Amino acid sequence: MDYIALANDVGLEALAALNNVDSQAKLEEFYVAYLAKKGSISTLMNHMREVPDKAAYGAAVNKVRQEVSAKYEEKKSVLAKVALNKRLEEERIDITLPGSATSFGHINPYRLIIDEVTDIFLDMGYEVCEGRDVESDRFNFELLNVPKDHPSRDMQDTFYFGDDYLLRTQTSAAQAHKMCEMKEKKPIRMIAPGKAYRRDDDDMTHSHQFAQIEGLVVDKDISIAHLKATLELFAKKMFGQKREIRLRSSYFPFTEPSVEVDVSCFSCGGKGCNMCKGTGWIEILGAGMVNPRVLESCGYDPNVYSGFAFGVGVERVAMLRYGIDDIRRFYQNDFRFLKDYPVK
Ligand code: DAH
Repeated sequence: MDYIALANDVGLEALAALNNVDSQAKLEEFYVAYLAKKGSISTLMNHMREVPDKAAYGAAVNKVRQEVSAKYEEKKSVLAKVALNKRLEEERIDITLPGSATSFGHINPYRLIIDEVTDIFLDMGYEVCEGRDVESDRFNFELLNVPKDHPSRDMQDTFYFGDDYLLRTQTSAAQAHKMCEMKEKKPIRMIAPGKAYRRDDDDMTHSHQFAQIEGLVVDKDISIAHLKATLELFAKKMFGQKREIRLRSSYFPFTEPSVEVDVSCFSCGGKGCNMCKGTGWIEILGAGMVNPRVLESCGYDPNVYSGFAFGVGVERVAMLRYGIDDIRRFYQNDFRFLKDYPVK
C-alpha cells in the first residue's frame, strides 16, 4: 500500500472540504473532522507502525498537516474579519440621529391633591400626623364608637390579620391615635393623609385601596361654626374663591352631629351641569363634631373639650379636579396616564 499517496489524498480531501467552509461554525466542524486529535489528518500517524519508510511517511504527513493548517488559519482569519464587519454593521450607531430625551418621573395626581390639601392646612397651623396602614381593631373601630356588633362595620369590611389587626378602613383611626398619644390632654389641630383599604370589588368608583385625608381639631369651646368656617376656607382655596359650601345632616358613629359637606359646582358655578348631576352641588367630604364618647374613650373630658373632624376622599377630589373618570387609573402605574399631569 502506498501510504504517502494515502496521506496526500487525505490532504487534498481536506483542502477541498476547507474550500466549502463559509462560516465559523462550519470551520469548527472542519477542524474536528481533520485537524483535531481524532481528525483524519492526525490519525494518519496511526499507520506509522505498518509503514516501511517511516521517515519519508512522517515527513509527508507533516507536510500535509502544515499545508492544511496554514490554509485553515488563513480561512479562520478571513471568517473572523467577516464576522466582525457584520457585527459592526449591525451595531452601527448613527450619531446624526437625535438623542432620546431622558424622561422625568411624574407625580401621581392623587399625591398632588394630598400636597395641596396639606399646604392649605399647614397654613392654618395644623400639624401633619402619620397614621399607620396596619391598624388594630381598637383604633380603627372601637375607640371611634364602632363596637364589634355595630352595623356600620358591614360597609367597612377589610383585610384582617387574625382577629385584632387589619388594614385600616379609614384614616379616622389616626384621630384616636393622636388623642390617646397626648400625655397632657392639650388642644389638637392635625391632619392625617394616608391610605385606607376596604374589601370592595374594584370598579370605576371603588378601589380596595384608596387615600383619605383626616382632619381633627380638639380644643375648649369648639363649635360647628369653626367646622363650617374651616371647611369653607378649605373649599375656596381648593376649588376657587367663588365656591360656597353647604352642610347636609348625615351619620357617622364618631361624630355627633354629623354632616356631608357639598361644594358649589366649580364647573357650572351652581347652575347645574353633568359634573354636579344638575344639582349645582358636589359632595366632597364627611365631617362632624367629635362624638363625646370618642373624646372620652381617648382620654379627653367632654365637659371641658369639644372638637370637629372631617375626612376627605383624595381620589374623589382628584377625579373632580382633573376630570378622571375611573379610580383604577390611579393605581395602574400607566406612565401615559401620569404624563398628563404636571411634574411640579
Ligand atoms: N371615616 C369616614 C369614611 O371613611 C369619613 C369621615 C367622616 C371622617 C366624618 C371624619 C368625619 O373624620 O368626621 O367614610
